[in-house]
Amino acid sequence: MSTAGQVIKCKAAVAWEPGKPLVIEDVEVSPPKPHEVRIKVVATGVCHTDWEYLYKSGKGMKFRPFPLVLGHEGAGEVESVGPGVSKFSAGDKVIPLFLPQCGECERCLSPKTNHCRKNWANTQAGVLADGTSRISCRGQQVFQFLGVSSFSQYTVVPDTSVAKIRSDAPLDKVCLLGCGVSTGYGAALNAGKVEKDSTCAVFGLGAVGLAAVMGCQVAGAKRIIGIDINPDKFEKAKLFGATDCVNPREHSRDIQEVLVEMTGGGVDFALECVGNPDVMTAALESTTDAWGVCVVAGWTETEAMKVAVEKILMGRTLKGTYFGGWKSVRDIPMLADDYMKKKLKLDEFITHTLPLGQTNVAFDLLASGKSIRSVISLWDDST
Ligand SMILES: NC(=O)c1ccc[n+]([C@@H]2O[C@H](COP(=O)([O-])OP(=O)(O)OC[C@H]3O[C@@H](n4cnc5c(N)ncnc54)[C@H](O)[C@@H]3O)[C@@H](O)[C@H]2O)c1
Ligand SMILES: [Zn+2]
Ligand SMILES: [Zn+2]
Repeated sequence: MSTAGQVIKCKAAVAWEPGKPLVIEDVEVSPPKPHEVRIKVVATGVCHTDWEYLYKSGKGMKFRPFPLVLGHEGAGEVESVGPGVSKFSAGDKVIPLFLPQCGECERCLSPKTNHCRKNWANTQAGVLADGTSRISCRGQQVFQFLGVSSFSQYTVVPDTSVAKIRSDAPLDKVCLLGCGVSTGYGAALNAGKVEKDSTCAVFGLGAVGLAAVMGCQVAGAKRIIGIDINPDKFEKAKLFGATDCVNPREHSRDIQEVLVEMTGGGVDFALECVGNPDVMTAALESTTDAWGVCVVAGWTETEAMKVAVEKILMGRTLKGTYFGGWKSVRDIPMLADDYMKKKLKLDEFITHTLPLGQTNVAFDLLASGKSIRSVISLWDDST
């Protein structure tokens, strides 16, 4: 029976307040308004940024409104569309996007950036274009994290925040393209523009960092040094193409000094995938002068990194990347295609598959360094 036009009652993991575990609740999801799409979420990855917003809201992260449904690395099927939606119809397989591509704004029209500004302020405030959320619980509005909220069995997003992917793509794998893997892979390929035969250093070997390692390998880098304070990550990093792995805690000197010495002057490309300002400084300082490029992919909003002027003056480049520089609506279907053609790894990132009721367990696994990516299976009702 069609649910189009009706309020849908379903389960979601609700963050009632910062610093407290998520609670599985019955929520109500309203029908899509004009230019919106309602999606049945099938699977979602759990990204470090979800954890960070819950546990560091107001501490390194700006304070966001609560209650909130987190999750921004999902994949699902279109359940229904609102008035004026022409590009999607019920049954389409899609990835909801935290970064839209409206195709019309100045930034969408520029080949220089993927930073579409459509609905930006609303998305950051956890609401859709009309200033409200489509999710409620016990009569109260529940905000939508980055305008997505994939920790809910259904969600509603703007039609400019949806990537349609091929119908044979497995949703429990391609969900990872919704954030972490695309970000790291694009940090190397789009932002860093890593070159053949170059030497690279990737700081942080979670999903974002491993995807950056994969990007460096695809670009033909000859040496890829993985850096992490958790040596359990090294085996996987080698599988993705790391040639050496270094644990900063095993050295009495600063890691940048170790890397400069290891490489006889510094790396060509350094990719920061931790989200720690001191690591960002170390990444910049590990690059060679004259042409070294440092890309910051790790996320922190209220903290500052230290940049010695001399490092920049001597020819290094420091840049950041949001969602790996991909133009989301156009490029995510292409990455799903590359996965289906076995040009891009996804399965190897997934260490755990859990039901919605265990989303807090996924957070614990992430925070304790025991997982790379946990994928939440939204319709598995075991607990
Ligand atoms: N730029 C973007 O668009 C974007 C998108 C997704 C995620 N992110 C950010 O990227 C970062 C990584 O995300 P993730 O999901 O891979 O996280 P993760 O927690 O899975 O991985 C982070 C890794 O960094 C390692 N680490 C911690 N401190 C370190 C240090 N001092 N030196 C070296 N390694 C250290 C950890 O052991 C862990 O392996 C986070 O800051 C996240 O918020 C940014
Ligand atoms: Zn745009
Ligand atoms: Zn993310």
